[in-house]
Amino acid sequence: MVTTETGTLFLHPDRNLAMELVRATEAAAIRSAPFIGKGDKLAADGAAVDAMRKFLGTVNFTGVVVIGEGEKDNAPMLFNGEQVGTGNGPMCDIAVDPIDGTSLTAAGRSHAISMIAVADRGTMLDASSVFYMEKMVAGHEGIGVLDIRQPIGENIRALAAAKGKPVEDLRVAVLDRPRHEQLIADIRATGAGTRLILDGDVAAGINAARHDSRIDLAVGIGGSPEGVATACAVKALGGFIQGRLAPGSDAERERGAAAGLKFGHVYEANELVSSDNTFFVATGVTDGELVRGVRREGRIITTESIVLRSRSGTIRRVTADHLVDKWLDS
Ligand code: FBP
Repeated sequence: MVTTETGTLFLHPDRNLAMELVRATEAAAIRSAPFIGKGDKLAADGAAVDAMRKFLGTVNFTGVVVIGEGEKDNAPMLFNGEQVGTGNGPMCDIAVDPIDGTSLTAAGRSHAISMIAVADRGTMLDASSVFYMEKMVAGHEGIGVLDIRQPIGENIRALAAAKGKPVEDLRVAVLDRPRHEQLIADIRATGAGTRLILDGDVAAGINAARHDSRIDLAVGIGGSPEGVATACAVKALGGFIQGRLAPGSDAERERGAAAGLKFGHVYEANELVSSDNTFFVATGVTDGELVRGVRREGRIITTESIVLRSRSGTIRRVTADHLVDKWLDS
């Protein structure tokens, strides 16, 4: 039975903020859709940022952007420290990525999403001074079984045993990057299969943590902000996540240390986001295993989203039809 500090959720139902936030990721996905496959990632991202910002402004909460987007690509920003929402309602940390997978979107490739993660104010790790984080994400079977400090082969074998599957049936998502050459070889040496992704490790992490996906484990180095956002979703899914910062230079290490970040330290789920009250929403921009992308049929635009809330443990899929006329500029 799901309980909150005031009793069961059934006896004391309360507001699910994510049900309102999903309008902002839907808007970002819809407005970026005309740019899919057009080769201009900044234009796609700009349209998504604008739309997300507008819709966040309608939600009754006081959100402080702890993880904005864009620094890495000089893309338009929802700035770190910017306040979003109406200013009435709960104080929250918010992590936004109007498009995770801007290059995928520009190229017309699969797996781009628009996402927002929210948690109680002051509870998300601000890892923005260090771009990269090594991550390991899996479902609940990984808890007490996986450890990012152990060799990947041991982790894969332990997870296979915990899941009651032959190692050969395990699928491991990794960003397809030269830095992962050895990791990929080590995964394959166990007999497990890789799912190499071009971009978008938030969706890959969520796929590894949810119960009905074909991905069992997501590993490797990706963005640290993406790691914290993934942790909000993983907490709602009851899954496993660990992260370890991977600074690219001494200057970055110094900036990170000044911001209070720890190197060599394994950040557990509760350190990536300490609150047990997390929300996560994502809408598909292009088709992916997590959610379908935006489609348009005549006068109707259809979006698919996933809406997660840790306190209730709910995982909703929201499919929405939108009238094209309502989304025109004039
Ligand atoms: P953007 O859409 O913001 O460019 O991020 C895409 C992404 O693939 C993330 O999902 C991932 O965490 C990060 O970039 C990996 O960084 P890099 O492309 O430098 O390896």
